[in-house]
Amino acid sequence: MQFNEKRYETMPYRRAGRSGLLLPAVSLGLWHNFGQADDQQNCRAMLRTAFDLGITHFDLANNYGPPPGSAEENFGRLWREDFAAHRDELIISTKAGYRMWPGPYGEGGSKKYLVASLDQSLQRMGLDYVDIFYSHRPDPETPLEETLGALDLIVRQGKALYAGVSSYRGAFFVQAAETVRRHDWTPITLHQPVYNMMNRWIETDLLEYTDAYGVGVIVFSPLAQGVLTNKYLGPETRIPTDSRAANPSSFLQPEQITDEVVGKVEQLNHIAEQRGQTMAQMALSWTLRDPRVSSAIIGARNPDQIRDCAVAAQHTAFSPEELAQIDATCPS
Ligand SMILES: NC(=O)c1ccc[n+]([C@@H]2O[C@H](COP(=O)([O-])OP(=O)(O)OC[C@H]3O[C@@H](n4cnc5c(N)ncnc54)[C@H](OP(=O)(O)O)[C@@H]3O)[C@@H](O)[C@H]2O)c1
Repeated sequence: MQFNEKRYETMPYRRAGRSGLLLPAVSLGLWHNFGQADDQQNCRAMLRTAFDLGITHFDLANNYGPPPGSAEENFGRLWREDFAAHRDELIISTKAGYRMWPGPYGEGGSKKYLVASLDQSLQRMGLDYVDIFYSHRPDPETPLEETLGALDLIVRQGKALYAGVSSYRGAFFVQAAETVRRHDWTPITLHQPVYNMMNRWIETDLLEYTDAYGVGVIVFSPLAQGVLTNKYLGPETRIPTDSRAANPSSFLQPEQITDEVVGKVEQLNHIAEQRGQTMAQMALSWTLRDPRVSSAIIGARNPDQIRDCAVAAQHTAFSPEELAQIDATCPS
């Protein structure tokens, strides 16, 4: 498989906190559209397009599909066919935390679950190791020591190179960072929180802490699952059939596309047009305006969306007037 020889010329790479790891400003996640029923040629085209554009990071989790596990299986097959020769040019992550198999050991933050789940993920993807392994969510029922000790074990075993946490709130994250420091365990290299114009919690409850501990931030759902694009702006049918909101099993449902939400996106889209960007591009650029954000993980349903998003990484400066207008529309 031949890839674009100029793939490293336009995508900026940003350091994950104070680690040695560089991430593409735009990463690709496989939560949606890489499952068993999805068109495999389209999956292949999306991965190829991403890599051709310098997107060197693919983000997975044990439960991505549907059914859970199928995104990793599909990725593993496409990986072997197209990318195996490029292993050292790519960063692959996976996670465990949400329900994956029945019984008491198929969910949460226990050592039993995390270690077993990563072994299964590696098998499904046909990889010897992942680059980043995350605790996918905080588990208040499991001692933090056990979850972080499991991440440390996994890294020491060589099954992952870096450890990460996802969706930990500020105080819980600080506890985690202090715990690994106290035990001299593998540091937390990345935090993966949600962040977009409509969900700005990390500005007040995370970024100062990740910055203080030198931890990188890689944000998910930067387009608010597609809400921060122009697809719901049509004059009549606000829910196109080929949109995530039209998929009954997705987390984005038609009732979330309210008149108020659409009104805000219309105002934002006006700012985007003046910047010479699509709505999706501006939403993505906005998450990347803060240098503490190492990367934004997009999802996509086709290669064109990836092309549209990738260039957003080159236009991340905002004037004070633009920021004020965005703040007025979407306060933090
Ligand atoms: N750690 C966690 O708990 C967690 C949670 C959620 C996600 N994630 C990660 O973050 C990744 C991204 O999440 P997400 O899929 O919610 O991200 P997102 O980028 O906010 O939304 C992706 C959706 O936006 C639409 N879109 C993308 N580019 C577009 C463009 N240029 N123009 C118009 N529409 C566009 C598509 O929706 P349509 O399908 O409607 O076209 C696409 O499926 C996931 O794949 C996963 O890896 C992690």
